Amino acid sequence: MKHALIIGGTGMLSNCCVQLAKQGYHLSILARNEEKMDSLKKKIDPISKMTKLLVDYTAEDKLRTAIRKAIQTHGPVSLVVSWIHSTAPEAPQVVIDEVSASGEPFRFFHILGSSSDPVAYKEALSLPSQGHYRTVLLGFFKEKEGSRWLTHGEISNGVGDAIEKDEPFYTVGEVEPWEERPGFQ
Ligand SMILES: NC(=O)c1ccc[n+]([C@@H]2O[C@H](COP(=O)([O-])OP(=O)(O)OC[C@H]3O[C@@H](n4cnc5c(N)ncnc54)[C@H](OP(=O)(O)O)[C@@H]3O)[C@@H](O)[C@H]2O)c1
Repeated sequence: MKHALIIGGTGMLSNCCVQLAKQGYHLSILARNEEKMDSLKKKIDPISKMTKLLVDYTAEDKLRTAIRKAIQTHGPVSLVVSWIHSTAPEAPQVVIDEVSASGEPFRFFHILGSSSDPVAYKEALSLPSQGHYRTVLLGFFKEKEGSRWLTHGEISNGVGDAIEKDEPFYTVGEVEPWEERPGFQ
């Protein structure tokens, strides 16, 4: 079975996880809160397709160990969806290092908030040749009057589209002109 690792999958990416399970992935979901994890697990059918990795990703050793165990149990990871806050700047590299240890090809979808600098994020990472890096930048939607941030459903669908299209750079909504972002005018 294909194995996907979703970091921070129990919030705005929940519906994306449900869709990936329907596509036949075994999901290893990493987050801290067990209640949110169980609520996601109930939406995934059959529930055996999801493994809970209850870990704080700011704890580097625990993050490494959890990913290593998930790979030992469910096989190499071919898809990573990474939504990691800036409180854990080292975590994306830790994830890449652990996932690449198997030597198998994988795609790494790095989800970034609207105000992030995607070039700086990519340049800070060291990827092996079998790792394919994809940026997904979250934006906003312009409306008749003003603009609004994306809903969780739109974020999940957008990330799903990004995975399907498999382009190096994908924007969900818009980020230009930046002056038109919600709350700025
Ligand atoms: N348009 C944009 O640019 C944009 C960008 C970002 C966010 N947003 C919006 O802002 C809202 C808030 O963002 P959010 O990040 O709270 O979104 P979220 O996706 O709802 O929650 C964050 C996810 O990461 C996990 N997480 C957080 N800290 C963690 C840690 N230290 N270790 C392991 N897992 C951790 C959370 O689970 P646990 O809490 O269980 O650990 C959860 O699964 C979102 O709901 C979204 O609508 C918009």
